[in-house]
Amino acid sequence: MLSIDLKGKRALVAGVADDAGFGFAIAKALVEAGATVVAGTWPPALNIFRNLLERGKMDESRKLSNGSMLEFEKIYPLDAGFDTLADMPQELRENKRYKDVGDPSIEGLANLLRSDFGEQPLDIIVHSLANGPDVKKPLLDTSRRGYLEAVSVSAYSMVSMISRMGPLMRKGGSAVSLTYMASERVIPGYGGGMSSAKAALESDTRTLAFEAGRKYGIRVNTISAGPLASRAASAIGIIEKMIGYVSDNAPLQDHLTAEEVGNTAAFLCSPLASAVTGVTMYVDKGYHAMGMAVPPAT
Ligand SMILES: NC(=O)c1ccc[n+]([C@@H]2O[C@H](COP(=O)([O-])OP(=O)(O)OC[C@H]3O[C@@H](n4cnc5c(N)ncnc54)[C@H](O)[C@@H]3O)[C@@H](O)[C@H]2O)c1
Repeated sequence: MLSIDLKGKRALVAGVADDAGFGFAIAKALVEAGATVVAGTWPPALNIFRNLLERGKMDESRKLSNGSMLEFEKIYPLDAGFDTLADMPQELRENKRYKDVGDPSIEGLANLLRSDFGEQPLDIIVHSLANGPDVKKPLLDTSRRGYLEAVSVSAYSMVSMISRMGPLMRKGGSAVSLTYMASERVIPGYGGGMSSAKAALESDTRTLAFEAGRKYGIRVNTISAGPLASRAASAIGIIEKMIGYVSDNAPLQDHLTAEEVGNTAAFLCSPLASAVTGVTMYVDKGYHAMGMAVPPAT
């Protein structure tokens, strides 16, 4: 039988802080396929995530098909808005959520991975994070600071992760990020430069596929997912409307699950996808293919 076999592989999933988003579902799918997973979690969400795990609040969603539980080999603090500790403003370093976490920058995480697991500890990188302080504002009302922060945290972070962690990856490695079709079509309400950040992320996926393919022999792809009521998406304020609209107009009308995206990520990270790199793969019930809204049934 053809199967996704990730035994012996280690993945870093950056952007997990609860069991409602794509990061958790991808981590679970990778473990189902035999991989071990370390998580990178945003410091402001780190304690909450650890508490949820320790208190058993996520036990139901941690259950694997073989009866065991999803375990994270390690959970590291990660603020993907910073490449090095020196880039972090002093005020943030002294913040109560940051002062005890060590170096949560991308370089800090790369150093920790090396010291915990050796020079080439990774096979898979999953970038499942985004943030834009002005996301609720139309692009016309978005500040320069808000726009640049959206692009910095949500797109440049992928460039920085591949640049700093490419050397940590074993041959045949694979990286996947999460994008959204607001990069190429207007989604009213998805503001603050987040649409611009996703366009950058998709373009960078192609360039990184070339550069990191040649330099490290790894593959780089992005999944353009349909709407899901994760914590981040719910904060935008229009997620239920987006889910309803897609269901009304997509070729497949059932709602997208995080597990479906997790399974696609596991495929993209597996040897089965050994010739797939530089792609934006739609996992959206086919909604991207539509060019006209479906008139309501009379
Ligand atoms: N939910 C959707 O409808 C949807 C659709 C398409 C794409 N996506 C993308 O999927 C990815 C995951 O989002 P999600 O919807 O599963 O929500 P989520 O809330 O599960 O994940 C977002 C994560 O980003 C983390 N984060 C925010 N700022 C960070 C920073 N500076 N450093 C490190 N981590 C940071 C948050 O703590 C959170 O864990 C994002 O890239 C998002 O844009 C989401």
